[in-house]
Amino acid sequence: MDRTPPEGGRDVVVHATGLRKAYGRGRDRVPVLDGVDLTLRRGEVLALLGPNGAGKTTTVRILSTLVAPDAGRATVAGFDLVRDAARVRERISLTGQQVAIDLRQTGRENLWMMARLAHLPRRAARTRADELLEAFGLTAAAGRQVGTYSGGMRRRLDLAAGLVTRPEVMFLDEPTTGLDPRSRQAMWEVVRDVVAQGTSLFLTTQYLEEADQLADRVALIDGGRVAAAGGPAELKRQVGQVRLELELATTDDAGRVAAALGVPVPGGADARTVRVATDGTLAGVRELLAGVERTGVAPRRWDLRTPTLDDVFLALTGHAARTTTRAGTATGEQTRPAEEVAA
Ligand SMILES: Nc1ncnc2c1ncn2[C@@H]1O[C@H](COP(=O)(O)OP(=O)(O)OP(=O)(O)O)[C@@H](O)[C@H]1O
Ligand SMILES: [Mg+2]
Repeated sequence: MDRTPPEGGRDVVVHATGLRKAYGRGRDRVPVLDGVDLTLRRGEVLALLGPNGAGKTTTVRILSTLVAPDAGRATVAGFDLVRDAARVRERISLTGQQVAIDLRQTGRENLWMMARLAHLPRRAARTRADELLEAFGLTAAAGRQVGTYSGGMRRRLDLAAGLVTRPEVMFLDEPTTGLDPRSRQAMWEVVRDVVAQGTSLFLTTQYLEEADQLADRVALIDGGRVAAAGGPAELKRQVGQVRLELELATTDDAGRVAAALGVPVPGGADARTVRVATDGTLAGVRELLAGVERTGVAPRRWDLRTPTLDDVFLALTGHAARTTTRAGTATGEQTRPAEEVAA
């Protein structure tokens, strides 16, 4: 077996350059990817971050050989995606965005079946199934038909099914969307464990926090391309750590508080909310609050917020995250001008 010499070095397990993809034809043509470049190194976790319709699933489907790109090339686990698709498939696992388990079987049977399909010996299959049922809080429901599970339970079982084996490269498409906080934590723990065993992970997410928790590197997808990439800490540094957000009773109050804090006076529909970046330290926040107090204005409400996906988009691309709602329609969900966040 001759693996394609990995581009970008021996330790690279996914290397994609210039991936393009459009769906439909003629007037119905929807361009989705417009030259995506990505690299995943061995043993690393790469998070592809983007809003609805950005092309995350499309990228994952291309890299896992389910759809062919219109242009560009990629190697996965050392093999060319197009020429050696079968070899790529042997070395990866994919947990898609849609649940793909058998509703008539029990949770335990589903996991056994996945394990047996992955050629695990009978005993190892049982052990692995039980470990995963436990990790995802499904032990009590393991003997029940999946058809009786709640949506979150099905999703957890689906994720467990994708984690039965430890492939060279694992693709997880929005693994925790729709999960409650505890299940999300459980998922993160299992994922860390799989990565610690040597699997490289490519995941997509809409949550900055998830990228921060799991990823060594984050790639932000926007307008069909990777608009920014780097370590999560690096991205957060660019975006700001924590924001103080104050809601005032009147626009006059907002003007006074904004002036005292040295940030632009808010305008438009958001004119009673003042936002200011902090360094995230106690002292820094205390100083800002003291500044607000000195104005004599009492805010209606205030809180500290960690950056959201929208904040990241504003800071790194200068515009709001575009949500592609249907073929070819991109809507900018502009909530506030970029310069306020930068302030
Ligand atoms: N088979 C298809 N035929 C036509 N258009 C498609 C098809 N699959 C995806 N699209 C379009 O491609 C764009 C990107 O879709 P994709 O599923 O890759 O986005 P995503 O980033 O995964 O979004 P989400 O966060 O909602 O899962 C969307 O505008 C979508 O409507
Ligand atoms: Mg998707």
